[in-house]
Amino acid sequence: MSRDLALAVRLLQAGELVAFPTETVYGIGADAANPAAVARIFAAKGRPADHPLIVHLPGAGHLDRWARDVPAAAWELAEAFWPGPLTLILKRAPGVPGAVTGGQDTVGVRVPAHPLALALLRAYAQAGGVVWEKEGLCGIAAPSANRFGRISPTCAAHVREELGDAAALVLDGGPCPVGIESTILDLSRDDPYPPRLLRPGHVSLEQIETVLGVLPEAVVGQTGQNVQEPPRVSGSLDAHYAPTTPMRMVASQRLPGFLDAQRDSGRRCAVLCHSQPPQAGLSKPSLHLWQRLPAQPEAYARGLYAALRALDKAGVELIVVEDLPVGPAWTAVADRLRRAACGAGGA
Ligand code: TXA
Ligand code: MG
Repeated sequence: MSRDLALAVRLLQAGELVAFPTETVYGIGADAANPAAVARIFAAKGRPADHPLIVHLPGAGHLDRWARDVPAAAWELAEAFWPGPLTLILKRAPGVPGAVTGGQDTVGVRVPAHPLALALLRAYAQAGGVVWEKEGLCGIAAPSANRFGRISPTCAAHVREELGDAAALVLDGGPCPVGIESTILDLSRDDPYPPRLLRPGHVSLEQIETVLGVLPEAVVGQTGQNVQEPPRVSGSLDAHYAPTTPMRMVASQRLPGFLDAQRDSGRRCAVLCHSQPPQAGLSKPSLHLWQRLPAQPEAYARGLYAALRALDKAGVELIVVEDLPVGPAWTAVADRLRRAACGAGGA
């Protein structure tokens, strides 16, 4: 085991926070069976205590320690997609601390695919947490390592920017290959309710349908849903993943005209585009700052948060994002951008 991993294990055992890379985004982790350690995550993020955390497991074999009445669908999905960017919401097992589930009767679990995350989880399982030995519960609770509502970090430097010294250690695994958070699928409801997609991600509805033979219900992308209930998925809040600079989406055809008009009124913008070569179609030399991401959904997702973070630092009045192509492959990225635009500017 590397020195860093050994240190990470000791810190987790001592109830400290350790940030680590996953294939999606960086997480800020604590021993999921240690309520005092979990409480530190909420403090570090400024996150409301009724928002549940995802428990990261060393392998699918740990699933039924954390969840009860695990349906066959969960085992099938675990087999197909773990390690990988799919989180399953299941009924929580009796010993699971309420701190990690936001007091709910369900628990979110996933096995991440990043080699460093897996090495950490396996090393922790071997070493034995101080608390988990009692209940047989081994897992690392880890939300994305950003301040509540802000842009998720996709490299180690972004974690430090977001959380300062709150993490005793940041394991550096380079940039995250997926770049947006895991797909969340709710399997906690009894028959006849179908599985329900709570957050779109790299694992698509269609891929899930291929494994289960049923298309999950999609409850994302609607506003005002579950108005009577507290938000179960903080990523489902209308405003999330947001830069501090105001941000708006503009259709591709309208982009040159819109940017010319901004320039004419003396406003410098930061532009995130995918189809146009920088500055195409503008009538005058532009003062605007440009970032271009590939017009391909996986590559766009990989670069999205770093691009938003860079544009947010540009000191402009407005971030302008070119509307995305239409189609199911863009669902997850479109969801993040819509919420980012909604929460932007509210520093
Ligand atoms: O890709 C990811 O999922 C990353 C990496 C670090 O694993 N984690 C992540 O965590 O995005 P977080 O906390 O930023 O978002 C997890 C979402 C939250 O919106 C939370 O409300 C939801 O999962 N969640 C966790 N447990 C839940 C539960 N029991 N019921 C409903 N939603 C749950
Ligand atoms: Mg998050």
